Amino acid sequence: MYSFGLFLCSYLFMELMMKIKAMIKSVLLKTNPIYRESFNISTKMDKIMIQLQNIQNMYLPPPSNPTYSKIQKYVVQHKNRQYSAIATDITNHCNARCMFCFNKWGEPCDMSERTFLKILQILPFANEAGFLFSCKFEPSLHPHFLKFIDLIPKQFKKKVFFTMNLVKYFDDETFHRLANSKINFINISLETFNPTLYEKLTSVKNTHFYENIDRMAMIFNKYPLAPKIRFITMILKDNYDELIDIAKTAHEKYHPSFHEFRTPYFFLHNGIDTLSRQLLNRTELDTKIKQLQELNIDNCYYWAETDLEKYQCFINPPPINIKEKTEEQLKYQKINVDPNSHYLIEIFANGKILFQYKEHFNINDIEDPFLFFSLKTLRFAKTRSRFI
Ligand SMILES: C[S@@+](CC[C@H](N)C(=O)[O-])C[C@H]1O[C@@H](n2cnc3c(N)ncnc32)[C@H](O)[C@@H]1O
Ligand code: SF4
Repeated sequence: MYSFGLFLCSYLFMELMMKIKAMIKSVLLKTNPIYRESFNISTKMDKIMIQLQNIQNMYLPPPSNPTYSKIQKYVVQHKNRQYSAIATDITNHCNARCMFCFNKWGEPCDMSERTFLKILQILPFANEAGFLFSCKFEPSLHPHFLKFIDLIPKQFKKKVFFTMNLVKYFDDETFHRLANSKINFINISLETFNPTLYEKLTSVKNTHFYENIDRMAMIFNKYPLAPKIRFITMILKDNYDELIDIAKTAHEKYHPSFHEFRTPYFFLHNGIDTLSRQLLNRTELDTKIKQLQELNIDNCYYWAETDLEKYQCFINPPPINIKEKTEEQLKYQKINVDPNSHYLIEIFANGKILFQYKEHFNINDIEDPFLFFSLKTLRFAKTRSRFI
């Protein structure tokens, strides 16, 4: 009798809890837009994942498979199912050796066309301007540089950009093709207008940079829909006194749509001394950023987070006591698990993929990259949405 009473009590208690939970859920659905959004996403994802699993073994090309097209539409339309950055590199080498460069150099490798075609299948997952055709190395050295750009489907061209150094000679024909490529923008690295300093910073003798950039700007001007030209300028000790001139001259001569001034990200592998000689202290940086801001040049962006003091801390870190984490740090950790936060896929010239900084695959081993990443993305987003 006693155990029956106990059983009944716990049953009623469970029922009551479930009712309370359902009530809270219904109140939250009515009143809290973030909860509602997360709930809707989660429900839709469940359905889509079942569909995806069903078609996994009967893949047909998109036009002939209505379920596949439906999923493609879903992924393409949902911004929060897309990656902030899909960063490819079609080569792993470069014709310069900048003293601040974060790269590690190995055996040269150029991406094969087969690998590139596979990568194109995951373009729907990239945000607008979220696909880096080339990120860390020098794309213009690839023997099929222009052909690969032409292979990018027209409807995805606005997702694409890349960075290059303009060290080697580019003929007019190449600039015309680039101007006509319909991609979103091209970043050009610009550390100095002084050829002697250029050689010191990049180890390049007789660069074609200056004649290239003049012709590039002139030819791009003839095409109203040409990719926008952007500049990236490193803030270094050696170009410190020239930075104001760089900002003014770049703006007046080339009208870039964006000009980023940045301090070097830290790395250890290329020599602590080389980098630390180029870093500035906080006061020097703040002074220069203020002067640059006072120029009031449109579309300039300053990122000067890494200073000499932080670098010294980085190479010689003080011991960390985990218990001492501040409220602010804990809050940041929570924000970090938001399902809409930064998603990253890195793809190297040999087809190797680094997914969200930790998982490794090779795109050449994946039969259907679109399907593979549909599942991966939905699973990943679903796991993250549980944290809200
Ligand atoms: C690594 S490069 C690759 C593209 C091309 N080779 C170039 O330099 O334009 C991409 C961009 O990163 C910048 N960069 C290089 N080393 C850096 C570092 N340690 N921290 C921040 N940016 C860096 C370059 O100046 C360039 O604008
Ligand atoms: S040009 Fe770019 S990739 Fe080459 S060394 Fe300089 S920063 Fe690195």
